[in-house]
Amino acid sequence: MNGAEELAHALAILRAGGVVAFPTETVYGLGADALNAAAVARIYALKGRPSNHPLIVHVSAARQLHDWALAPSAQALRLADAFWPGPLTLVLRRAAHVLDAVTGGQDTVALRVPAHPLAQALLEAFGGGVAAPSANRFGKVSATSAQHVRAEFGHALACVLDGGDCAIGIESTIVDASGSQPVLLRPGGIGRAELESALGAAVAMPGSSAPRTPGRLEAHYAPGTPLMLVEPDLAAELIRSLARQDKRVAVLSFSAMRPLLPDLTWLACAADARGYAHDLYAMLRAADASGSDVIVVERPPARPEWAAVLDRLTRAAAGSGAPDSP
Ligand code: TXA
Ligand code: MG
Repeated sequence: MNGAEELAHALAILRAGGVVAFPTETVYGLGADALNAAAVARIYALKGRPSNHPLIVHVSAARQLHDWALAPSAQALRLADAFWPGPLTLVLRRAAHVLDAVTGGQDTVALRVPAHPLAQALLEAFGGGVAAPSANRFGKVSATSAQHVRAEFGHALACVLDGGDCAIGIESTIVDASGSQPVLLRPGGIGRAELESALGAAVAMPGSSAPRTPGRLEAHYAPGTPLMLVEPDLAAELIRSLARQDKRVAVLSFSAMRPLLPDLTWLACAADARGYAHDLYAMLRAADASGSDVIVVERPPARPEWAAVLDRLTRAAAGSGAPDSP
């Protein structure tokens, strides 16, 4: 099939209540008609995701916000205006017709207008909202290429639109704009400082009253192999001590200089946060596929531009069952 035929195929599946994988600029999504409860149920079944964990509704243009959300605040509209299409998800008060299966029964709905041209083409042709979580099995590493999606779901998924590697590589920034002050629920492609400068106001961090979302569960985004996060200057010693215990080790390192040890998989990471985020899930998948016993990841700097990457790495370490890192 050529590109136009692939798109027509995906569209026919969506209209028939099926599930298709599609690229966005953040990660690949697993989409279904957001107004069709049976279609949405198929997403949960494919992902193995608990049904009380809400999905993001993807639409082609910011003006569709009013089809899904009730009385958005001026701040919500300003964020939509500044960052859509793009890697921002807004949590807003839901319109009455939004399915409980999409919102997890909450009184809010998450909305996003992705910028990827193939996502745009699909959503525009479909016309309605497409509910889509990241295209990975529940709790596992997100997919940033069509090959990742196929590796994750195989024949269980009839259609994977191939839009190449995702430009950003980690999930969208989620802002709860349903209350009086916006709250950053998940760091992502857009940083807190960018949000605040677009708003001209502060964005709060989640308190204990924030809704629980799987992206905020401590253990998430986890490779199958135990992962240890370690300060870069302690990495060499840790790797040697693991090697002495006959462990095969995969390392995500900021250094191109690998120690001379057998059974070592060395993945050199980008020194800048954007480049690192772009490669992160592909590197975790490569580390997983290397057959190593442990993945050692050098901790990135504690600077604001690294917040989203650090968030994903911390959760990956928590979710992988590795002993506490030094
Ligand atoms: O970049 C992304 O956001 C990707 C692409 C495909 O758009 N999607 C994605 O979906 O990461 P997912 O389901 O893996 O993560 C969406 C997060 C979940 O943590 C979910 O709980 C949260 O959004 N969420 C959805 N609806 C919500 C709501 N009404 N209130 C609070 N959080 C919500
Ligand atoms: Mg996800």
